[in-house]
Amino acid sequence: MIQEIKSHIEEVEAFQSEDLQQIEEFRIKYLGKKGLMNDFFKAFKEVPNEEKKEFGKTLNQLKTLATDKVKQLKETIESKQEEKGIYGDLTRPAEMAPIGSRHPISIVKNQIIEIFANIGFNVSEGPEIEDDWHNFTALNLPEHHPARDMQDTFFVQRDPKDILLRTHTSSVQVRYMEENQPPIRTISPGRVFRNEDISARSHCIFHQVEGLYIDKKVSFSDLKQTLLYFTKQLFGKSKIRLRPSYFPFTEPSAEVDIYWGLETETDYRITKGTGWLEIMGCGMVDPNVLTNCNIDPEKYSGFAFGMGIERIAMLLYQIGDIRMFYENDARFLEQFKSSI
Ligand code: DAH
Repeated sequence: MIQEIKSHIEEVEAFQSEDLQQIEEFRIKYLGKKGLMNDFFKAFKEVPNEEKKEFGKTLNQLKTLATDKVKQLKETIESKQEEKGIYGDLTRPAEMAPIGSRHPISIVKNQIIEIFANIGFNVSEGPEIEDDWHNFTALNLPEHHPARDMQDTFFVQRDPKDILLRTHTSSVQVRYMEENQPPIRTISPGRVFRNEDISARSHCIFHQVEGLYIDKKVSFSDLKQTLLYFTKQLFGKSKIRLRPSYFPFTEPSAEVDIYWGLETETDYRITKGTGWLEIMGCGMVDPNVLTNCNIDPEKYSGFAFGMGIERIAMLLYQIGDIRMFYENDARFLEQFKSSI
């Protein structure tokens, strides 16, 4: 009988199949309830004592071999199917591509655009590489004017004339007025550049939104009302104050603070205990600027304002370090989901 078992061992070792049905039949033949193994184990009793050891050993060998064989053949089939599943079936629906999210700067920019679009402002853009006229001179900042020092400029070319990276989006005001006569209602979002040390609070590249409204009889109260509407919409805060300030291109000029409140410890920290936060600069467009842009200051007046998008995004999202906007860390960026 040992001889019979040995021939089964050979059979098991030689068995190959990629057909699940066949493998199952093989399993039943050897390992099933009424299978050969059972028959042999039953026969064990009849084996003469001196052969029992050898018989048992060979029988166990057959059992292990058959069990391993079934397992191994099934695994081969499964791994082949997996391969097919990934690379073979071209009709399979594609894997979903991960959906990115909009950059927080874009989200805030779009929110600002929408708020002003609702009251009739269009969007205008200008070049990032500017000439001296549009960035400075036309804005009432003639050469050697001390206020030019307020903005550390990156120059692209100094001779024969200054070409520079714009230090603010106010340059787009000039371009827009040169091309369009009043009534003008436009906002100009864009990237600006300043030769400043990079820190948690400031960067050499950032974004601004410029606003310009020129028409007959535009007054300072129109400016204030527009800014109040804007801050209500964006921040949900309805208390603002205008602090007298100085910009060469506006007269009078002001800085706009919103009342943020002093409810939490963070409120104390970001408002330095005052409850107030500065969010932008503004003023009535200086008549010199209108004249420089071929608009008659006797007939028209207007207001302008300018704000930094990063600063506003940092307030809205409570972001403590401006550098996070430019590091492209997916863990930071994917937190911002927006429909706008
Ligand atoms: N251009 C100014 C800056 O970059 C911001 C600004 C202030 C713009 C007052 C304006 C304005 O239009 O009226 O700091």
